[in-house]
Amino acid sequence: MSAPQDFNDRMLSLGLARVAEQAAIASADFIGRGDEKAADQAAVNAMRDQLNRLDIKGVVVIGEGERDEAPMLYIGEEVGNGTGPGVDIALDPLEGTTLTAKDMPNALTVIAMGPRGTMLHAPDVYMDKLAIGPGYPEGVVTLDMSPRERVEALAKAKGCQLDEITVCILERPRHEEMIGEVRSTGAAIRLITDGDVAGVMHTAEPAMTGIDMYMGQGGAPEGVLAASALKCMGGQIYGRLLFRNDDERGRAEKAGITDLDKIYARDDMVTDHVIFAATGVTSGSLLPGIKREVGYLTTETILMRSKTGSVRRMVYRNPTR
Ligand code: FBP
Repeated sequence: MSAPQDFNDRMLSLGLARVAEQAAIASADFIGRGDEKAADQAAVNAMRDQLNRLDIKGVVVIGEGERDEAPMLYIGEEVGNGTGPGVDIALDPLEGTTLTAKDMPNALTVIAMGPRGTMLHAPDVYMDKLAIGPGYPEGVVTLDMSPRERVEALAKAKGCQLDEITVCILERPRHEEMIGEVRSTGAAIRLITDGDVAGVMHTAEPAMTGIDMYMGQGGAPEGVLAASALKCMGGQIYGRLLFRNDDERGRAEKAGITDLDKIYARDDMVTDHVIFAATGVTSGSLLPGIKREVGYLTTETILMRSKTGSVRRMVYRNPTR
């Protein structure tokens, strides 16, 4: 038997960017067409096809769903051409299917890769999330604090007034109370209708995006993707899984999770080096969307490595023959 190969993140990262780019390009025809499923399927097909060209022995850890509900890129699916290192893969071929179908901002294709066994197998349940950007002491805000306490603690750490803090929250009925409490502090809120991976990533570039903190309940798989991004960009994210019924608790058990109340910090969700790529589908404050010109589609991809903290923005012009 040959020795396991190293996770050569430097070499693999460019391949990962291609995977994200091609998924975005495949979804381009579906922007603003009102068909979420078709947009997602196009991105899934392209992502899978590109992944299978990479020199990896990959396993999808965060994917399109359980094997019986997702025919492609399901959790546990083996991807890659089987010749390279063993890797874990977290992906969301189209993060913001509704955003794409309605041509609204911040839809992305997202993928992260790390050495085998280093990513949390988050079940498809909700996660209570809290994230801030780099430069703050660890634990300056916590999930156990009330929304008001979080705003106060962050403003103190930032050295600013409460009304100079902006919080990003998913617009959902379940967040009404939280939204009210944050507003009562004087802080501003950027409400988003979907796409909390982008929401969390916004906190890592506050000067560009204007967002200091993300909070609220969204998908647990998206939490692991967001943790991968912040591991590269810097910043803190905390997540606690939320269970609404026995079926959801069963999903956690199947994923090997025994402590159902655990609070996961960023490095609990992603325990080793990771590479991360996201391509803009529709324009947002983090990435421009796909641009159409006669004969070309242009995409922009953010490609990052946690080992070096390098963040590349890659513009790709692809002929549309
Ligand atoms: P999809 O792209 O799979 O539709 O997910 C979008 C999303 O907004 C995620 O970013 C977020 O974590 C989750 O849905 C929130 O779930 P819900 O819509 O049930 O509140």
